[in-house]
Amino acid sequence: MSKKKSKVLNDNTIFHSHTLGMSTQSVHAGEDRTRYADSITTPIVQTSTYVFKNSKEIEDYTKHGKTRFEYGRYGNPTELVAERRLSALEGAEDCLVFGSGMSAITTTILALVHSNDHIVITDDAYKKTLEFCSSYLQRFGVECTIVPFGDYVALEKAIQPNTKFIFSESPTNPYLNIFDLERLNRIAKKHGVLTLIDSTFSTPYNQRPLEFGVDLVLHSCTKYLAGHNDILAGAVLGRSELVEEVRKLHKAMGGVIDPHCCYLLLRGLKTFSLRMERQNNTAMLIAKFLEGHPQIKKVYYPGLESHPHHHIAKAQMKGFGGVVTFDIKGNLNTAKKFMDSLQLCYIAPSLGGVETLITHPALVSYYDYTRKERYELGITDTLFRLAVGIEEPEDIIADIDQALKKSVKK
Ligand SMILES: Cc1ncc(COP(=O)(O)O)c(C=O)c1O
Repeated sequence: MSKKKSKVLNDNTIFHSHTLGMSTQSVHAGEDRTRYADSITTPIVQTSTYVFKNSKEIEDYTKHGKTRFEYGRYGNPTELVAERRLSALEGAEDCLVFGSGMSAITTTILALVHSNDHIVITDDAYKKTLEFCSSYLQRFGVECTIVPFGDYVALEKAIQPNTKFIFSESPTNPYLNIFDLERLNRIAKKHGVLTLIDSTFSTPYNQRPLEFGVDLVLHSCTKYLAGHNDILAGAVLGRSELVEEVRKLHKAMGGVIDPHCCYLLLRGLKTFSLRMERQNNTAMLIAKFLEGHPQIKKVYYPGLESHPHHHIAKAQMKGFGGVVTFDIKGNLNTAKKFMDSLQLCYIAPSLGGVETLITHPALVSYYDYTRKERYELGITDTLFRLAVGIEEPEDIIADIDQALKKSVKK
């Protein structure tokens, strides 16, 4: 992982000539040093449109390219600060935020493809992303090849003359597989295709794909970046000319983020580094605890040597993230009893917030699959995904332990 720190991308800050650490950037990046009414926080500019004083101001804006805001769907001052902060954290030239992670993903993909193009995606990408790529894009004449994650030979073979990009995630859900980003970059550059990485599970704290040559990074900011399980948001980051392509389409698609959500994203980001450090440490402690527990069949955590991609994770990540996946011994009934006995961990989808959440993929994301289909994808009756929050690690461990004990009681 490169030690390079990025600059705060805002000309109005006093830090312009310095490079800053991630915690400092999480608090300050993107904000003007002087703000409305001397407020220390960035104001929520709750407006759908912006006033022009006279015709000259309109002409200055439309004809002479003076920068200012025009209409809510085309930009907002609170949103701009959030974009600058995320750019600084990810080390990106530009960023565009959206009303959800899926809006960021679908708008970015649509901005990059035309009919008769082809794309490649790995098979354990987020379910809705896979669905969009493999079914909806076909309606517009865009073909999609799904390749097994980690099969770099199949990945390279899948590339055709009309392939526009390779899309993957790292780490993936729920097995936390890690994509070798250097290898991905080598393959993509050889064939002149773009690379898109959904980096939601790692965040810029743990991994910065752009430093490995990835073209665009996507985030569901709903998760670690906002960090409080209270908003939906998404982002795309990368080179200016690529993000600008997405911005043009975004203005027409309209999946904009609300200014108040931008404020909550900015507020969440202020503690981003602290939360990530805590969540990385807690997840590692829980993974080790589970690995030594007699009622656990298997633990999937990239920080453990037993994880098949531990060596890649060690080479390209600073920390291994706040999600631990594990399979318990027993059957569907044992799994239900375990889940129902938890007292601290909430049963809820999502990850990255301050509260610890647990999901049972078989009952939630794969409820509409047959058992056979699920097992083919490795989604067993007894598989859980734990997304740790910022509680004391020993409290989460105690909760899991007591629930495991209850799950085998007659
Ligand atoms: C890896 C990943 N990408 C994208 C998304 C979609 O994000 P959102 O729910 O913010 O639309 C999710 C949601 O869980 C996710 O886990």
